[in-house]
Amino acid sequence: MISYASTFGILALGLVLNFIITRIRFNRRYKLPNVVPGWPVIGNSLDMPFPPGMWLVEQAQKYGEIFTVNLGTKRIVFLNSSRVVEDLMEKRAAIYSSRPDRPMLSDIMSGGYRIVMMGYTDKWRAQRKIMLNILNTTQAEAKFVPFQELEAKQLVYEVLQNPQEFHRAGQRFSNSMILSVIFGRRAVPDDELLQFILGYNPVLGEVQMDPQKSPADNFSTLANLPKPLQWWRLFGERFYQDHIKAFNKEYTNFLDEYRRGMVKPCYAVDLLESSKENKMTDEEILYTFTSLIEAGSDTTRVSILQIMAAAACYPAWVKTAQAALEEVYGSDPHSLPSLHDRRKLPYISAVVKEVLRWRPFLQMGVPHTLIQDDEYDGYKFPKGTEFTWNAYAITLSEKEYSNPFTFEPQHFLNDDLNKPTKGH
Ligand code: HEM
Repeated sequence: MISYASTFGILALGLVLNFIITRIRFNRRYKLPNVVPGWPVIGNSLDMPFPPGMWLVEQAQKYGEIFTVNLGTKRIVFLNSSRVVEDLMEKRAAIYSSRPDRPMLSDIMSGGYRIVMMGYTDKWRAQRKIMLNILNTTQAEAKFVPFQELEAKQLVYEVLQNPQEFHRAGQRFSNSMILSVIFGRRAVPDDELLQFILGYNPVLGEVQMDPQKSPADNFSTLANLPKPLQWWRLFGERFYQDHIKAFNKEYTNFLDEYRRGMVKPCYAVDLLESSKENKMTDEEILYTFTSLIEAGSDTTRVSILQIMAAAACYPAWVKTAQAALEEVYGSDPHSLPSLHDRRKLPYISAVVKEVLRWRPFLQMGVPHTLIQDDEYDGYKFPKGTEFTWNAYAITLSEKEYSNPFTFEPQHFLNDDLNKPTKGH
């Protein structure tokens, strides 16, 4: 009769053999770029800090244009130059644009509806089509630019009136602008929805980027455990429910005003009026609002803070920017800049690009998933590999920009000024 010890030994041996054979087969078939040395099973989960920006810059300096990081069962290839980003994520976008499986972040915390985490599915295509149809047209520009100009005036006013509170003015501006576009309403500094977004966005960021925060996203097999054993689930479900509750409140208020004919032209009106053709569920509709409101709130808020930081650290460019504005508008403080004059103000556009370059909002980009095996520069990647542009490493590389750590709008006074892929 075989003892327990022998059975255990045979099982363990079987597992080790299986691991070795799978490895050998994998290595015969695929070739990954430099793999950052890590621990067995957990890979680099304990090495990659949060926020990861400067650690990833160091890895790029050590391992070159392209390297691989393993975080549990998750394998991410980091692209560290604009050359490789363009070659793969731009030119081969058709196969490099899906999103990774994230059982916690996407399925539980977002109900599968947050667009920036959705795979390359029909649901994603439908959401994206609606967003583009409503937001990316000439009529949309005519409708929404006045919101932007109004909020910009209010921002300048608030900063002049109360310079100590410049960060609150920036918060209100960003949120109010996107709320105007989506629901046709403006935000006040202590706006309930704004405070809610500011509270949960860092949590989303941490779960997305900190390898130690979300076990199920790093070891996706854990998602197969029976629900009562998924210790992270309760937190994720609460997060989702709170989210739905807060945005539902906003949407219900909007619907009341809409029925009374009191709302301004906005995205929500366009969406409601086309929703019969779209056949979207209530939750899908709600999430196109929330995806856009959160995508537009924190990104622009942080960019405004970065402009302030850049002005404090490198004041010389502010004088050049002022001179550029005076050349178009004279020195009358009542004649304020307009988006329509953007082409006449290349220096101001260069300042904006430089803000996005100097300290990219998303330090490690946002991972995409390859949907079929692919080959590039002698490497062979399996389907399912995650890829991201190493934002900090690219924008802070001397090979890409001279004096990369310094804020210099001149970085963009060249052909890169009008390239959407340059700067972030
Ligand atoms: C400074 C401002 C902004 C920055 C730096 C920024 C940055 C980004 C980045 C890095 C991504 C991921 C792209 C990718 O994975 O390929 C993204 C996605 C997205 N952004 Fe923005 N964004 C900004 C403002 C906005 C605004 C104002 C809106 C809404 C009107 C918006 C809506 C979206 C949406 C809907 C997606 C998801 C697209 C998809 O996955 O299909 N963003 N943004």
